[in-house]
Amino acid sequence: MHEVQLAKGIYYVGAVDWNLRDFHGYSTPRGVTYNSYLIVDEKICLIDTVKAPFAGELLERVSRIVDPGRIDYVIVNHVEPDHSGSLPMIMEKATKAKVVLTEHGRKEVVKYYGKEYDFQVVKSGDSLDIGKGSLQFIPLPMVHWPDSMATFLTGENILFSNDAFGQHICTSKRFDDENNLHELLYEAGKYYANILMPFGKLITKALPQVLTLPIKMIAPSHGIIWRSHINEIIGKYSQWSSGDSIEKVVIVYDSMWGSTEAMARRILDGIAETGVDVKFYKMATSERSEIAEAILEARGILIGSSTINNGPLATIGGLLTYIKGLRPAGKIGAAFGAYGWGGGSQKAIEEALTQSAVTVESSGLSLQWKADREELDRCFDFGVQFGQKIKQWK
Ligand code: FEO
Repeated sequence: MHEVQLAKGIYYVGAVDWNLRDFHGYSTPRGVTYNSYLIVDEKICLIDTVKAPFAGELLERVSRIVDPGRIDYVIVNHVEPDHSGSLPMIMEKATKAKVVLTEHGRKEVVKYYGKEYDFQVVKSGDSLDIGKGSLQFIPLPMVHWPDSMATFLTGENILFSNDAFGQHICTSKRFDDENNLHELLYEAGKYYANILMPFGKLITKALPQVLTLPIKMIAPSHGIIWRSHINEIIGKYSQWSSGDSIEKVVIVYDSMWGSTEAMARRILDGIAETGVDVKFYKMATSERSEIAEAILEARGILIGSSTINNGPLATIGGLLTYIKGLRPAGKIGAAFGAYGWGGGSQKAIEEALTQSAVTVESSGLSLQWKADREELDRCFDFGVQFGQKIKQWK
């Protein structure tokens, strides 16, 4: 990749992992980037590193600009190994560099890499003069690790936001206006849904602090750099973190012998009749991180499963565990499915949705063996009623 400058003396030196398709269980059909930035001012600063296998690539990019031995500061905004994995290799070359991070970050680096580097621990309000500009540190604890932090460069007014505002997408162009905005916002939403959704309240709290900064560019540690659509991405974060939703329902189901699937299709027809948008997923052939993206802006979640051994199918059980971790705010949910004799999946799904912070308002719909014509009509009516609830929900 050719050298890319964000502004004079500020370089992209990260790595583009075009072929990664699974990021700890999150599907990445467009690959992943690990963004790292080099600031050459009176002091030389490296903002974040890259995943360990790409250390050589990072060092090569830095070396084309400056001798890595001249680096004064390595800013560790976040210790998760996709960003700090190359730290030991960088520090072997950057022998005089201080490692700048939060106290949580310091503890995590020592634990991960077993080294006491020359640490400079920072807290909210701290800044570091580097010449023409200065670095202001904005710790963002639990957005999404205890150590998480953003760094703001004054003068050029660039926010190095680490995971926040990131997207898993590989492109040969580094800026938002050089790429397809629709794709970028989709990937930013998928990223938010799968990584940041559980921290919505903290993000809502942190956003005003970030918005007081005169941001000209947001340079995250994944994906493209925002310079032309800053208001759009910040607006989306504001919407997602507040739990604002649109008239949309996500139906996810799995079916042993087709009965639950037939119910799901008639429920879909009923919701569609009300004009509410529906996304429809059979869990056996769907991927959970895509479903999480669909849930992000949806107002309703309908989960269907056949009953097996008094509970839902294992594929649905896995999804419910995932959703419970994400805690999607401000949604209405319900359960449905077919059973043979004892039943049990509806109750288990309702309990899991309640534990996921979803409001389970209506009692769900369970039918024995295979739905007949009259029962399929009940499924349609169930869909209509659920769609009406979605329209009335405030
Ligand atoms: Fe991209 Fe939380 O690491």
